[in-house]
Amino acid sequence: MTTASRAFDGIRVRAAQIGLYETPILHGRLADAEALNAALRSAILDRHAAAPSLARSNVGGWHSATDMLDWGGPAAAALADTAVKMAKRASHFDGRDAATVEWTVKMWANVSPPGALNMSHAHPGVLWAAVYYIDMGVPPSGGEAGGELFFEDPRFPVPFMRLPGFRLLGIDGQPQPVERRLPTDAGDLVLFPAWLRHGVRPHLGTGDRISIAMNIDVTG
Ligand SMILES: [Fe+2]
Repeated sequence: MTTASRAFDGIRVRAAQIGLYETPILHGRLADAEALNAALRSAILDRHAAAPSLARSNVGGWHSATDMLDWGGPAAAALADTAVKMAKRASHFDGRDAATVEWTVKMWANVSPPGALNMSHAHPGVLWAAVYYIDMGVPPSGGEAGGELFFEDPRFPVPFMRLPGFRLLGIDGQPQPVERRLPTDAGDLVLFPAWLRHGVRPHLGTGDRISIAMNIDVTG
């Protein structure tokens, strides 16, 4: 400190922190989903028995083709409508009447046995991605269940290039994590921007986990 600056010792600053550029993630829970889940489960297990897996982000699990709306019956159509309803809640279209925007959904199913996981990935070419949980498998007694959906902070690589242990403090005063895990249950529907990289931790329990993924977009 120079002699000149000591003349101003004791200057105080009040700073308000602004949390800028939210990333909206909607975590929904479907009410009375038992009948819907039973119908979805039955359609998925039939398809699982008959069709080979696609190789996408899945490691060790079965990934159907993205045409589940063709074979998932009314339950799949109802789930797609519900996901679009959530996407509408979080969307704005400059210069367009939101009520007239036409939405499209591609849907696929995942059956993940113990040990299966999904590597980090994004869903290019669409606005929103969603995942719906039908069966979480059986957690191990006294241990972690695994299988959590996780989201990566898309800004993370930038500070990492300077100092790996540096974190920005959030408006809650806590260091912002570079990855956020989201615990989910059967009947949960999670919607997030399709560009947000995400994945699934290894399933550490027993039994198959069953989920449905969707790419949600608009025409034009
Ligand atoms: Fe995904």
